Amino acid sequence: MLDRINQLVEEIKSLAASSAEEAENLRIKYLSKKGLVSQLFDEFKTIPNEQKREVGKVLNVLKTQALDKINEIKEGFASNGQGEVGADLSLPGTSFELGSRHPLSIVKNEIVEIFSRLGFNVADGPEIEDDHHVFEALNFPPEHPARDMQDTFFIATNPDVLLRTHTSSVQVRVMEKQAPPIRAIFPGRVFRNEAISARAHCIFHQVEGLYIDKNVSFADLKQTLLYFSKELFGADTKIRLRPSYFPFTEPSAEMDISCTLCGGKGCNVCKYTGWVEILGCGMVDPAVLEASNIDSNEYTGFAFGMGIERITMLKYQIKDIRLFFENDKRFLDQFKSAGK
Ligand code: DAH
Repeated sequence: MLDRINQLVEEIKSLAASSAEEAENLRIKYLSKKGLVSQLFDEFKTIPNEQKREVGKVLNVLKTQALDKINEIKEGFASNGQGEVGADLSLPGTSFELGSRHPLSIVKNEIVEIFSRLGFNVADGPEIEDDHHVFEALNFPPEHPARDMQDTFFIATNPDVLLRTHTSSVQVRVMEKQAPPIRAIFPGRVFRNEAISARAHCIFHQVEGLYIDKNVSFADLKQTLLYFSKELFGADTKIRLRPSYFPFTEPSAEMDISCTLCGGKGCNVCKYTGWVEILGCGMVDPAVLEASNIDSNEYTGFAFGMGIERITMLKYQIKDIRLFFENDKRFLDQFKSAGK
């Protein structure tokens, strides 16, 4: 019996297979219940006890060697892609789709980038605010309609907790913390109690800008906004400032750009005027500076605020503001190549 075992040990050393199927046949031949190794184990039971120790030892060696060898052969087929259990490396990979930036983020990033080239940095403030930061410190008279329940979402009254209706509140947050010079923009989400339609939404986004230093003039404001408009809408863009009113600026203006669609000739986007309004701006009212403990005899400043939805709609000719909030892939997919 010992001879036969040793013969099998030698035989197993040189086993080879050229396919997974052949490897499986080897397993059956040697290791299955009726295989050659198993037969020897059956026979082992019948040999005289005094031989069992010696024979048992080599028999066990044979079994482990057979198992190791055949497993090794099988694994070879599994990992080189030819076996039934292995991966077929010639299969095309499963592709996964990359998402794209939301159009509002694309435009917001662009605005931030343009102003950062002029030395403006970015600041942030809370969406849940109080009356002081949204209205009072910005010189809103107590009876101003913007404080009314109809415009503002109040979370609590007396003391008032509310959702900010504009990003101008961040002006106050920044002036509280930082002494002039201040040159910063504040992108963010704002909330107004408005009926949702193609042109208005109760949630939208703004970018606010604030520049406070010695000798800041209206000419600085105008030149800054002209540069910004040309960078965002193209070098041919013209701007126009119309006198307006905001409690926190004096004088105040609304800024139009020459229509991006018709270039100023007149079309239905600009309602045949050649101009479209994109932002509000002005010189920071001395009362606003004083409310934040900035000496209005020493410092002057300008501020502006624009709606990101409005600008994005103009830039990409989007006709319905609700598209920004509906998560419709057919809409969002169209901005895949649009920007950072
Ligand atoms: N906060 C104004 C709004 O929501 C926009 C605005 C106008 C901001 C004039 C300004 C500004 O900073 O000077 O309609």
